[in-house]
Order: sequence, then C-alpha cells, then structure tokens
Amino acid sequence: MDFSEIIKKRYSARAYRPDAVEQEKLDAVLEAARVAPTAASRQPFKIIVIHTKGRQEELSRLYPARWFTQAPLLICICVTPDSAWLRRDHKNYADVDAAIVMDHLILAATEQGLGTCWVAAFDPAAAREILALPAGVEPIVFTPLGYAADSAGTKLRRPLADLVCYEKWQG
Ligand SMILES: Cc1cc2nc3c(=O)[nH]c(=O)nc-3n(C[C@H](O)[C@H](O)[C@H](O)COP(=O)(O)O)c2cc1C
Repeated sequence: MDFSEIIKKRYSARAYRPDAVEQEKLDAVLEAARVAPTAASRQPFKIIVIHTKGRQEELSRLYPARWFTQAPLLICICVTPDSAWLRRDHKNYADVDAAIVMDHLILAATEQGLGTCWVAAFDPAAAREILALPAGVEPIVFTPLGYAADSAGTKLRRPLADLVCYEKWQG
C-alpha cells in the first residue's frame, strides 16, 4: 500500500474482532512510532501496550464504549512534559510530539491491516491509576489496536479552499 492509499484507508474503527495481533505487526507499528520526529528530538514519550483479555471491566473505566476494550490491545501514548522542548515563550511541545507519535503508529497499523481509533475523551484519573503513572507523566491519547469489525463511513472534511490560505491568515 502506498502512502496516499494508507492515509485514505485509515478511519476510526469502532468495532473490533478479538483475534490476536501478530507480534511482527505489533513490532512494525511500534517501530513506526519510535522513529517519529519530536521537537529538538527530546523524545519525551512512552508507549504503553495494554492487553485487554480478561481486563475489559477494569479497562472500561478508562472509556466506557464497548468497542474500546474489544481489540486484544490498547495503546496509550504518555508524555513527560518536563523533558519536552519549550519554545522561548515557554510553550511546551509534548502534546504535539505525542500526536506525531500516535499518527505514525496509527498509519503503520493501517498499513498492517489493523484498525485503530484515536481516543482522547478518556478518564485521566482512571488512566493514572490503572497504568500506575508517576507524577510528571501525562496520558495523552489511547487507541485500540486490532482487527476492525466495521468499515469506514463517509469522510466529512472541509474543502481545501476553506483550509488553506497563502501568505496570510484569511478567514
Ligand atoms: C485528537 C483526537 C481525539 C479523538 N478522540 C476521540 C474519542 O475520544 N472518541 C472517539 O470515538 N473518537 C475520537 N476521535 C476520532 C475522531 O472523532 C475522528 O478521527 C473524526 O471524526 C474523523 O473520522 P475518521 O477518523 O474516521 O476519519 C479523536 C480523534 C482525534 C484526532
């Protein structure tokens, strides 16, 4: 699959089969995340791989949708903002780094024929407890990782003419 196919094929899967994810596919997905660029190459993140088998009830505390715990794996991207790059005005880029890591991971998963869905609306207090996150570590985003049991809906996207302007902001 070439890149333009991958980015068109990716969609938010909200139903999963329980089938295991092959180790080599998981490895490929994690490697894609590892090589993601981060600001000043600080790499202020960790990827937590969570097995869902037998833990659905506990993991549902993170996000209650049934599909969230249907796949055999959940992935969480966490950051340590204190080790992230700061712009001169102190803007912290840890969240941007986390998003790039997750996007690499999700696109690699698509290439491997695996389904994913960005989940930001999780309960951060439950994530801290279940993932044993120490102070200074922030969970940013989750995705299930497994074989999708649904298919892509219609992509609703604004036209390019609404999204792009040249030289200056034009509203
Ligand atoms: C940062 C981010 C957070 C998201 N959080 C959630 C979420 O908590 N729950 C959910 O069902 N979908 C979530 N999504 C998925 C979006 O709703 C979805 O990407 C968007 O509607 C476009 O659909 P598509 O991914 O199928 O192209 C999130 C997406 C992004 C990029």
